[in-house]
Amino acid sequence: MKFPDKGRTWSKVEADLDAFRLSDVASSPTNRLMTAIHMGDDSIHEICQRAYNKYFHSNAVLAELEPGLGRMQEEVLGWTVDLLNGNSTDSEGRANMTSGGSESIFCAVHAAREWAKANLPSAKPPYRIVMPKTGHAAFDKAAHYQGLEIVRVPVGSDLRADVAALEAAVTRDTIMLVGSAPCWGFGLMDAIPEIGAVAERHGLWLHVDCCVGGFLLPFLERLGHDIAPFDFRVPAVCSISADLHKHGYAAKPASTVSYRSQELQDYHYVGVAIDDWQSGMYKTHGVVGSRPGSSVAAAWAVMSVLGEDGYLDLTRRALAVKTRLVAGIEAVEDFRVLANESLLVPFRSETLDMLNVFGGLVERGYFPWGTFEPIYVHPSAEPVDDVVIDSFLGDLGEVGAGVRAGTITAQALATYIAH
Ligand SMILES: Cc1ncc(COP(=O)(O)O)c(C=O)c1O
Repeated sequence: MKFPDKGRTWSKVEADLDAFRLSDVASSPTNRLMTAIHMGDDSIHEICQRAYNKYFHSNAVLAELEPGLGRMQEEVLGWTVDLLNGNSTDSEGRANMTSGGSESIFCAVHAAREWAKANLPSAKPPYRIVMPKTGHAAFDKAAHYQGLEIVRVPVGSDLRADVAALEAAVTRDTIMLVGSAPCWGFGLMDAIPEIGAVAERHGLWLHVDCCVGGFLLPFLERLGHDIAPFDFRVPAVCSISADLHKHGYAAKPASTVSYRSQELQDYHYVGVAIDDWQSGMYKTHGVVGSRPGSSVAAAWAVMSVLGEDGYLDLTRRALAVKTRLVAGIEAVEDFRVLANESLLVPFRSETLDMLNVFGGLVERGYFPWGTFEPIYVHPSAEPVDDVVIDSFLGDLGEVGAGVRAGTITAQALATYIAH
């Protein structure tokens, strides 16, 4: 590649952008159910864009110095802590804003490590994080960067954390336990109260990965769904990651990491609040320095416009889509949906080769989103129009029949992955 020696007109560049976008499977409207883009509905999408544009060039590294941006960030974080039940007699939660689940997890791992140095003298580096196999890969990254070891423990036959096995994996150098609420891929919740009891018995930091659930589970609960406690109501929970850019329906990049108390949040800053520098005190919310004020503004605007009743309405509508998807998918071939606590609709067949099913969906323009162990395809319910659901189910019907007849293979999937 060679850097372009001459610039081109915006109209030519724009035409290229439009063509690129058309070629990107994930951004096509067909894929509203197949990728984790989480736009909410059209009106929320528009509000997000408008708010984002108003703060387009703003830099949230300065949020604390800017009255407007600072206030929006404080409110987004305060509202998040409130939703996660971080304001109670035994919890006075504090939160930081980050660019995404991975950064929130990175920060929680860092805080736990610094806490362990001060509070777990018998644990020796490399410290260990014990988590179910289904925990997100972002923990492996965070651990690698920060010199910790991950111990992944096989899940039970229900694909949820095997709590007894987690406890058995705890050793002298374990400092942190992780549970997902829910995990990515299957949408299943780990039993946070039971994992909390293990954390208490061994004096460990418990992080709950609520990247998917943070702005979904509180509303499912309010709608009467039977959700076991997953947040600061569980006394052992020290930190929670919750993504605004997932079911908060905010613009990317936007996530939060919350701590049970100011005291625990202080560990977030150990070693990374720099005061020995020619430019003065440098204390950022997370790992990154400059970051878009626009995503703070978009998150604030979406939360302000929706409020609790707006989120309840969106959640209700997405659940209705999920119900239609489950019925429609289970009416095709022998597909069965894995029941779960999220808006994911993971399905598989016991008789069809699922790689061929992926291939057929890719051929029809869908993004191949799913899991390998065990193999599932997982659409995610969004508040979309019936026509989107009908067209997905129609395509899936064709795919099922084609795979059974042997006319659809995994070739399209292989080609997609190889490109
Ligand atoms: C449960 C869970 N944790 C963490 C992450 C990582 O989040 P991000 O992609 O925003 O960094 C994801 C992303 O899908 C997730 O589902």
